[in-house]
Amino acid sequence: MPDSTGYPDLDALLPRLGAVARLGSDALAAEIIAVLGRKSGAITVALKSVPSRPAEERKAYGAAVNQLKARFEEAFARRGEALEAERRASEQAGLDLTMPARHRWVGAEHPVTRVVDEIVEIFRGLGFSVAVGPEVETDWYNFMALNFPADHPAMDMHDTLYLDAPPIAGDQGGRLLLRTHTSPVQIRTLLESPPPVRVVIPGMVYRNDPFDPSHAPAFSQIEGLAVDEGISFVDLKATLVHFAHRFFTPTTKVRFRPSFFPFTEPSAEMDVECQLCHGTGCPACKGTGWMEILGCGMVHPSVFEHTSVDAERYTGWAFGMGPHRITMLRYGIPDIRLLYDGDMRFLEQFAAGPKSS
Ligand code: DAH
Repeated sequence: MPDSTGYPDLDALLPRLGAVARLGSDALAAEIIAVLGRKSGAITVALKSVPSRPAEERKAYGAAVNQLKARFEEAFARRGEALEAERRASEQAGLDLTMPARHRWVGAEHPVTRVVDEIVEIFRGLGFSVAVGPEVETDWYNFMALNFPADHPAMDMHDTLYLDAPPIAGDQGGRLLLRTHTSPVQIRTLLESPPPVRVVIPGMVYRNDPFDPSHAPAFSQIEGLAVDEGISFVDLKATLVHFAHRFFTPTTKVRFRPSFFPFTEPSAEMDVECQLCHGTGCPACKGTGWMEILGCGMVHPSVFEHTSVDAERYTGWAFGMGPHRITMLRYGIPDIRLLYDGDMRFLEQFAAGPKSS
């Protein structure tokens, strides 16, 4: 606390004198006017009051006011210099206080994750539940139980990634491999829970494929399986058409082509109208106007046999689709490797994109 001047109206100003050293430049300018301002500054008012003071006090009071005025002037000058020095120092340090703040990346779902979630959500809305299975399988689950003949080319080392581990003994064992599709989870589901069954099964699958614009050795699939009494191909078509209309657009055209899978009979592939050219033909659909999005069919009796489901009582349908491929088709992405690169300039474009449903 600075020394007392002996005059209460002047002593009341002393705390403000002490505070000058902490003022910012705007507050400093305001305080200079409040203390020294020519009309109503506190010191000015005190000086003006000198002639009206009692005669014996006038001299000493006038001296005290002038002394206090000098101390304020010095404090204001010193604070002004200090603020100026601070300003120059930050300028020299290259600080530009007017520069906008850096954009902060808050993170977003990967476009494939988003597509998987959307697809799963559509099927959940139809009463399907979600199941998952292991990525390491025996060749019984991955092939045999799904009615692949023992010499099927898919089982070749050229296509399938086998683990360097001893085979598993027993009926459902065999060589260990990275599953080449999510279909083995059909077998696991039926072995665990008897019909009625309605599940979708998202997951990663692995193949001994090159990493090129249209292949990746690891990619996603979503399997679907519905088994109940009285299920027919009509249910399959109606459900998958509904899915395509929800996921793409309500007017997207759909077609089924006959195909072959060992675990379905009859089998089909489903195409949707090309989402980029809307059917007129473009490089993305190789001029056909159609994009293949999934394989499907009626569950083969042999699958029921391997899972002890009564094939006389129950029928079912299944499908398998590839969310990586569907993401490419939907957004017109020309090279699958873009979905694995983690390049923010690419991924950012999808961060705020619309959900379809
Ligand atoms: N598992 C097949 C594949 O990876 C896809 C598939 C086709 C799954 C037809 C199915 C199906 O469930 O019914 O190529």
